[in-house]
Amino acid sequence: MMQPKDGGRYFDGTLGDGGHATAVLEACAPSGELAGCDLDRDAVERVSRAMAPLGNRAHLFTANYSDIDRICAGLGWDRLDGVLVDLGMSSIELDDKARGFSFLADGPLDMRYDRGQALRAYDVVNTYGIEELAGIIRAYGEERFARRIARRIVESRPVEGTAGLAEIVARAIPRKFWPERIHPATRTFQAIRMEVNAELDNLQAFLPKAASLLAEGGVLAVISFHSLEDRIVKRFFAGPSAALLYRRGLPVQREAPAEHFQRITKKPIVASEEEIRSNPRARSARLRAARRLA
Ligand SMILES: C[S@@+](CC[C@H](N)C(=O)[O-])C[C@H]1O[C@@H](n2cnc3c(N)ncnc32)[C@H](O)[C@@H]1O
Repeated sequence: MMQPKDGGRYFDGTLGDGGHATAVLEACAPSGELAGCDLDRDAVERVSRAMAPLGNRAHLFTANYSDIDRICAGLGWDRLDGVLVDLGMSSIELDDKARGFSFLADGPLDMRYDRGQALRAYDVVNTYGIEELAGIIRAYGEERFARRIARRIVESRPVEGTAGLAEIVARAIPRKFWPERIHPATRTFQAIRMEVNAELDNLQAFLPKAASLLAEGGVLAVISFHSLEDRIVKRFFAGPSAALLYRRGLPVQREAPAEHFQRITKKPIVASEEEIRSNPRARSARLRAARRLA
């Protein structure tokens, strides 16, 4: 979708394991450049090491992608030819039980991408009121048993680890309503992770900044894993008439984007069955991309 070109300037806001960033840098060789960031310091160090042989065409930062304007200003870049974010957590973060993202292994209630940040999953789980907790689980987790789960969590405090939380959530949902293909705690964990990392806020702050940095013809591509994220992206690309963005399920009026986009993807692109077989975590990924017109 981005069709990176020699001499172009690109931005990857979620470096993760560097897969996309490396592909972009290879495609825009020999003189294209990429600015990239991740909130996870370990990810940035790993990608920096892996990219060392590619020379000085990569500029990598431990930063929030919603600071794309500051990152580009620091490099003296005022125009980008392509911008990409691939939202959520990486497989490396999910598989490291010390990061607290997974309910499959017992770990601390952490879930921060940025380990310098104060708020952890522990604080959300052990200090938020029932209503606030239920609201988060309902909106970000799209979980119909949100209130029951919130009540059980509050009754069980202090909740110490991910395994304990997963068990409380599973017990709060009547067995006949357990989802078929996913663990009953999946939605609640997702909701808490989105709250800890202010994921929708970051996306909403990022989109207009990215759009205004794009050159005419430049492409903005977003891979999301959640219907609320996908809706925000879809509405943003649809333009000023659809500038109603959502936070916690409530419509919030936001500034309409000044830029106009031509959608490259009418419907979001999803992974093929073959890709899902080799990478089951791709099953809920949705890619939308649009080209800036003027
Ligand atoms: C799905 S992974 C990206 C994988 C990457 N595209 C690749 O090819 O390996 C998402 C990454 O985004 C990071 N992340 C999440 N929210 C972020 C934010 N607001 N700013 C910067 N990085 C963020 C996570 O730490 C994680 O490493």
